[in-house]
Amino acid sequence: MYSESQVPDASARIRGRRSDRRWVTQALELLQAEAGRSGWTPLIPFHAPGAGDIDIYLKDESLHPTGSLKHRLARALFTHGLCNGDIGPRTTIVEASSGSTAVSEAYFAQILGLDFVAVIPAATSREKIALIERHGGQVLVVEDPADVIRTAQSVTAQRDGHFMDQFTFASQATNWREGNIASELFTQLLREKHPVPEWIVVGAGTGGTSTSIARYARFSGFGTGIAVVDPEGSAFYEGWRRNDRSYVTSTPSRIEGIGRTRVERSFVPNLIDEVLPIPDAASIATMRWASRIIGRRVGASTGTNIWGTLQLAQRLSSSRRAGSIVSLICDTGERYSSTYFNDAWLAEQNIDIAPFERALEVFTSTGVLRAA
Ligand SMILES: Cc1ncc(COP(=O)(O)O)c(C=O)c1O
Repeated sequence: MYSESQVPDASARIRGRRSDRRWVTQALELLQAEAGRSGWTPLIPFHAPGAGDIDIYLKDESLHPTGSLKHRLARALFTHGLCNGDIGPRTTIVEASSGSTAVSEAYFAQILGLDFVAVIPAATSREKIALIERHGGQVLVVEDPADVIRTAQSVTAQRDGHFMDQFTFASQATNWREGNIASELFTQLLREKHPVPEWIVVGAGTGGTSTSIARYARFSGFGTGIAVVDPEGSAFYEGWRRNDRSYVTSTPSRIEGIGRTRVERSFVPNLIDEVLPIPDAASIATMRWASRIIGRRVGASTGTNIWGTLQLAQRLSSSRRAGSIVSLICDTGERYSSTYFNDAWLAEQNIDIAPFERALEVFTSTGVLRAA
């Protein structure tokens, strides 16, 4: 902390003003206080009938104050922006997001007393838009998802703001060595039957979560495999398989939060042991099935995670191996009542989940999971 006398008068530079440094110090303290209040998220056993000797755990990221794993990323991006001299007391924060990151950033901007503008694609659920606005954020809806980043950049220029740019900075802003999702989950597993998981299974939006977990596992000497589950329309699977970072697709993902039409900078293919392409209908059927087992609604990307987890559990079981697999509850299903939980919406989107619902029933009684 600075005392008054230690802080010299402001220099002419807008962003580097010394008087602003006091505000930055206070802002960083507010973020740390929030981290202390939020604490660790629980790692819950997921008792999937059919999973045999494989212990499945879900790290429940929906229990962050802003309801998703993006709470961690938002805090990291604000910390990075403050320490980088990009955010000061009058900076408007701008983000391009399919919703969850914007919800979390709106919350942190409000804590710091900053204006926040979210540029989001039109397909974003209305529940998420309401949450951004509840935290005082301004929402700008863009019809073509391909225009979201360009629009965010131009809003940033108009408002002389700071573009958080999660897709570029997620993996840089996150402290992957300590105090992160991976250090929490490995510590939480210490007293379990299989403390070092065979696999950790996550989706990729920015790619930052998979990158941070993989880096931490390497840094700490764990041999755990890192699997990314990828929805239809996303470039990560083919980009990884062909080892081609320039691979692009033309249809955006329908599973909010994960899947991108290009291989984002925060996704590091070298760190990923396997990418599993998952049909959207499988994600949604599994989301509903898992919500019944857990006893509360989870989001569609959690369904993607769990379908991939069941595939890997089956693979381990069929080679007669025991062990543990960890995945994530990324966000709550309450955000998707009007979409993934709504049969009329599914019909409009031409998504038939019935074959995957049957596949899950068969898995429940036989432990065999067949792609429908
Ligand atoms: C809602 C949601 N957002 C984002 C992600 C991916 O996060 P990241 O941007 O770190 O790749 C996931 C899945 O893990 C998710 O479910």
